[in-house]
Amino acid sequence: MAIRKIAQIGHPILREPASEVPIDQLALPKFQGLIDDLIETMRDASGAGLAATQIYEPWQICAVEVNENPRYPYKPKIPLTILVNPRIERLTDETFDNYEGCLSVPNIRGIVKRCAKIRVTGFDRKGEPIDRIYQGFTAGTMQHEVDHLWGRLFVDGVEDPRTLSAWTEFERYHKDAFMKTVEAVKAKWHT
Ligand code: NI
Repeated sequence: MAIRKIAQIGHPILREPASEVPIDQLALPKFQGLIDDLIETMRDASGAGLAATQIYEPWQICAVEVNENPRYPYKPKIPLTILVNPRIERLTDETFDNYEGCLSVPNIRGIVKRCAKIRVTGFDRKGEPIDRIYQGFTAGTMQHEVDHLWGRLFVDGVEDPRTLSAWTEFERYHKDAFMKTVEAVKAKWHT
């Protein structure tokens, strides 16, 4: 296991679609070691998730885990989840405003509209099929991570660039307003 370097916005690997993992090769140390490193790097950086492209590995693999995350204290818990070759289906037209950040976009947050209810299909790290429904902030986190695998960053989805904010200025000027959104999303999608 190793903590890897995290690619920063501007590096071309963050803009290239990742390759599908051959599931019959997923058990190989090449992929299992990559997944171990992804988890270790995500936890070291206090990420809510991390995509393989962010550690310079162009494969469709991402990790998600939320457990009282210091970067996103309002996010409901998500047990450690590894998604291999994930696909997302939108299950509603309803969206919510998610104030996102990213370990590959230093010190910037901004509002992205995310689908409030999705289905995620794909495989876990053992190659077992996954078919799960996610809502609210958890759905938002999944969409952010899967976007990485298609070469998309959250800033691409920021419709109003005036919402872009450094983290300290988010705390100072935008957090209170966003906490109202947080309560509304939790009441509707996390009960
Ligand atoms: Ni990210």
